[in-house]
Amino acid sequence: MSQTVIVSGGAGYIGSHACKALNAAGFIPVVFDNLSTGWRDAVQFGPFEEGDLLDRSRLDEVFAKHNPAAVMHFAALSQVGDSMKDPGRYWRENVVGALNLIEATVAAECRHFVFSSTCATYGEQDAVTLTEDSPQIPINAYGGSKLAIEGMLRDFSARYDLDSVIFRYFNVAGADPDAELGEFHQPETHLIPLMLDAIEGKRPALTIFGTDYPTPDGTCIRDYVHVMDLVDAHVLGLKWLQADKGSRVFNLGTGSGFSVRDVVEASRAVTNREVPMTLGERRPGDCSKLVSGSARAIEELGWEPKRSTLNQMIADAWRWHQGKGFAR
Ligand code: UFG
Repeated sequence: MSQTVIVSGGAGYIGSHACKALNAAGFIPVVFDNLSTGWRDAVQFGPFEEGDLLDRSRLDEVFAKHNPAAVMHFAALSQVGDSMKDPGRYWRENVVGALNLIEATVAAECRHFVFSSTCATYGEQDAVTLTEDSPQIPINAYGGSKLAIEGMLRDFSARYDLDSVIFRYFNVAGADPDAELGEFHQPETHLIPLMLDAIEGKRPALTIFGTDYPTPDGTCIRDYVHVMDLVDAHVLGLKWLQADKGSRVFNLGTGSGFSVRDVVEASRAVTNREVPMTLGERRPGDCSKLVSGSARAIEELGWEPKRSTLNQMIADAWRWHQGKGFAR
C-alpha cells in the first residue's frame, strides 16, 4: 500500500510541485494548507486538508486520519522584504507554526521530517560559494525564522526518535514542464514572474532593486534552481530518511550565479521580447550575492539537476505564465 506524506504548504508554488513528484514516486501527498497564499486548484495529486499550523488540534486530527510515513514542511511566509516590515508575523507564523507541526509529528510517532530552509540563513558573506558548513548569520527576519526552525529540528532529533533532512534552497524558479503547475503569488514579489508580467504588459515595468551592489554589473547575484530539480531532491531526501541514514543538511542550488541584469537578458532572449524596466533603490534585507555549492546533494543523495539552466527555467516559467493561473 502506498505511504502517505503530509505536505504542509502543498497548495503553494514549491509544495504543489513536490506533490506531483511524490505522486510520481508512488507516495500519496496529503496537502495541509490554510490557503492564505496557496491555491485550492494547485492540489491535484492527493487529498486536501484545510488547516492552519497555529491550530495544533487540527494538526493532530489530520495526523490521526492519515497516519503519515513522513512530513514535508513547505508552509511559510517567505518574502524577504515583507519580513523586514513585519518581523513579528514571520516569527509567529513560521516559528510557532513549525513548532506545532514538529510536535504533532513526534506525538504521532512519525519519524521522518523534510524541511524547506533557505540560503537566506547565511546572510552576507565573503565566501565565493556557500557550503552547508558556512556560518549562518541571517540579515533578515525571514532567514532568522528559518534558522530558528533548523535549530528546533536539531533539538527534537536529540531528544526524540525524529530524523530530518533540511534543504537550504537558493532561488527557486521555473515551472512544471507540463504547465499543470507554476509560480503564482498574489501579490507577486519574485523577479522572474514580475519580469514576465512586464514583458506581457500586465504591469508597466520591472524595477531593478539596486544597481550599486559590489558585483560586476552592480545588481544582486543569485543562484537559480529549477523547481522540478528541487522537488526531485525532496523525494531523494525522503528516501534517504527511509534508509535510516540520519539527519542531514543539503544546499540546493547550481553553483552558478546570475545577476538581475543577466536574468533580464536571458528573458529577452527566451521570449524574444523587450523587458520594460526602471532602475530603483535597493530593497531592504537583500544580500548582494548568494551562490551555493551543491556537491553534497549531488554526491550523497545522487541528485542530478536536469533543467536548471537560466534559459530552461525562464522558458518553462514563460509557458506556464501564458496559461491560466489558479483559483482558491
Ligand atoms: N528583484 C528586483 N526587482 C524585483 C524583484 C526582485 O530587482 O521586482 C531582485 C531582488 O532584489 C533580488 C533578485 O531580484 O536581488 C531576486 O529577488 P526575488 O524576490 O526573486 O528572490 P529573493 O532573492 O529575494 O528571495 C528568494 C526566495 C527566498 C529566499 C531568498 C534568499 O524567495 O525564499 O531567495 O535570498 F530566502
